[in-house]
Amino acid sequence: MAAFPTMKVFILASILTFVFCDIEKRDLKTWSWPDCEKYNETICNEAKQNGSIVIYVKASSESNDNLHYVFSTIGGPSVVVLRTTNVNANLTFNWEKLLQYNNSLIDGAITFSDPQPNIEYKFAVVFTRLLEYDDTDDSADLDYCEKHLNLTSWNIRDFSMFHWSSDDLKVNASTNTFVFNSTSDVMIKTNETRNGSISFAFSVKHDNGRASDLPRMLYIANETMFDFVIANYTPSFNNSRFALEVVVVSLSNEAASADMSVDLTKSIDDEYTPGVFEIIDWLTNPKQSHISGFFQWKPVSYISLPRGRNTATKVEHSDLKNVDKSSSSAKLLNNTVLLAVFNESLWNGKTVKRMANISFGLPKDGFYIKNNYTAWTAAIGYGTPPADSISITVIITISAGLGLPVLIIIVGGIYSIIRKMRKRSSGYEPINAGSINRNYTQQSD
Ligand SMILES: *[C@@H]1O[C@H](CO)[C@@H](O)[C@H](O)[C@H]1NC(C)=O
Ligand SMILES: *[C@@H]1O[C@H](CO)[C@@H](O)[C@H](O)[C@H]1NC(C)=O
Ligand SMILES: *[C@@H]1O[C@H](CO)[C@@H](O)[C@H](O)[C@H]1NC(C)=O
Ligand SMILES: *[C@@H]1O[C@H](CO)[C@@H](O)[C@H](O)[C@H]1NC(C)=O
Ligand SMILES: *[C@@H]1O[C@H](CO)[C@@H](O)[C@H](O)[C@H]1NC(C)=O
Ligand SMILES: *[C@@H]1O[C@H](CO)[C@@H](O)[C@H](O)[C@H]1NC(C)=O
Ligand SMILES: *[C@@H]1O[C@H](CO)[C@@H](O)[C@H](O)[C@H]1NC(C)=O
Ligand SMILES: *[C@@H]1O[C@H](CO)[C@@H](O)[C@H](O)[C@H]1NC(C)=O
Ligand SMILES: *[C@@H]1O[C@H](CO)[C@@H](O)[C@H](O)[C@H]1NC(C)=O
Ligand SMILES: *[C@@H]1O[C@H](CO)[C@@H](O)[C@H](O)[C@H]1NC(C)=O
Ligand SMILES: *[C@@H]1O[C@H](CO)[C@@H](O)[C@H](O)[C@H]1NC(C)=O
Ligand SMILES: *[C@@H]1O[C@H](CO)[C@@H](O)[C@H](O)[C@H]1NC(C)=O
Repeated sequence: MAAFPTMKVFILASILTFVFCDIEKRDLKTWSWPDCEKYNETICNEAKQNGSIVIYVKASSESNDNLHYVFSTIGGPSVVVLRTTNVNANLTFNWEKLLQYNNSLIDGAITFSDPQPNIEYKFAVVFTRLLEYDDTDDSADLDYCEKHLNLTSWNIRDFSMFHWSSDDLKVNASTNTFVFNSTSDVMIKTNETRNGSISFAFSVKHDNGRASDLPRMLYIANETMFDFVIANYTPSFNNSRFALEVVVVSLSNEAASADMSVDLTKSIDDEYTPGVFEIIDWLTNPKQSHISGFFQWKPVSYISLPRGRNTATKVEHSDLKNVDKSSSSAKLLNNTVLLAVFNESLWNGKTVKRMANISFGLPKDGFYIKNNYTAWTAAIGYGTPPADSISITVIITISAGLGLPVLIIIVGGIYSIIRKMRKRSSGYEPINAGSINRNYTQQSD
């Protein structure tokens, strides 16, 4: 039982080190269509009507160690994160350039105001495609389906085709939340609307904590959490399943970045997310955690509301692949705000670009059509991704579980030694004791 106080001291010590070495709170300031009012108002109106949304969030600290987030639908849903130090600069947005949809013009559309800050690191996550496939074998395995399904079983949509409604874009300044929402009538151009939608609901964090909704992930002041939801979407096939194609781009101002990695951490504790014992961290620069971004999720999505163990299904990810300059994914990247932030360095050798598919579903879960709903939560942030420590309850349970048998063995051992010693001193020997035993007794005598 002496193990408890030491464990507690250890946990307290690690909490304290966490508190003292980190930025725990940031001030957030959010702008939608930033700087747009400075341009000809027809430009702003067109941007809003075209669903060209840009949200800028500045997450500043007292030491001017700031994170700048750009969330945009231009060319596809994208999240760009820049970390700056030394001065309190803001990003500025050139809307004439942003709306040209012209590579040579969008270039340089997003820059910092003077005095120019040090840009220590920048990275971005872009959702390039929505994959829909007819999983006739109910494998829920994207790799298998890529090999076994012919083209007619796929419906692959570029996210650049989607129209994002801005009429109902509400940036809640008190919670720093906003939603990119695309309704299916503009998305698939049929008359069967069924009120379907695809949405990304972002929540920019300013402190450390734990989300109240399943999968109840821990969060830190360096990140943004989001929910991706496909609701009431009319599927193309009876056995439709969905997947996202995601590209992650990383550029450090130090020497060439290392390759990215996707790390899976297992835990024995599912206290916060029942039935889920894993967390996945896609690290953009894993060799140097102090200049790395992360993209984190638990391998679980939900097929209806409310979220619970009964409505949970699996999320799988493919291996990382390089994004080649001439690939079709490169073409999509070239039209997003990434080009406005990375400029010509987007395609130079120092910038690392990797893609993966993230797919939803489990064999026998009834496919998408069972509930016409899929929801997945993930987070994008800077630094070391938050990790669940084993909770006190679990430590006590394990200690009790391990401690009791150990105690019984020790007490039992001592008891039998004492008994043996007593027996020996009484000179008693069982009549039918084996010869080896008897020899041993004779020798030691
Ligand atoms: C804004 O642009 C429109 C069309 O390009 C033009 O007709 C209008 O005169 C411009 N307004 C101002 C105030 O420059
Ligand atoms: C720059 O950002 C700060 C908040 O961090 C804000 O108070 C200030 O008004 C911004 N400056 C400009 C020119 O937008
Ligand atoms: C808005 O969309 C229309 C049609 O898609 C296009 O012709 C126009 O150039 C776009 N306007 C801007 C400012 O991007
Ligand atoms: C993009 O803009 C440049 C510079 O104005 C122009 O030369 C070029 O033709 C444009 N390209 C397209 C595809 O519109
Ligand atoms: C594609 O698959 C469908 C259904 O499995 C089948 O009916 C069709 O003939 C296939 N087409 C080709 C070109 O193989
Ligand atoms: C912002 O969120 C808070 C908390 O959820 C809510 O009480 C408030 O009504 C929201 N404000 C707007 C403008 O939606
Ligand atoms: C997206 O829009 C649809 C249709 O207006 C609506 O039913 C749905 O609730 C919206 N999604 C989110 C996350 O706001
Ligand atoms: C949608 O409805 C319009 C008339 O309301 C009709 O002309 C059009 O053909 C329909 N489109 C589809 C894809 O059914
Ligand atoms: C779509 O939503 C409207 C209003 O919320 C509702 O009246 C209508 O019945 C819905 N349509 C379907 C097909 O669910
Ligand atoms: C993307 O942009 C780069 C740089 O402008 C260019 O070299 C490349 O060919 C473009 N890729 C595609 C597929 O358009
Ligand atoms: C899901 O959508 C399909 C096709 O649009 C419809 O037939 C089915 O009833 C829907 N399922 C549920 C549970 O609403
Ligand atoms: C959060 O970001 C700051 C730099 O802005 C970094 O020093 C800190 O280590 C990050 N926090 C975590 C938990 O990685």
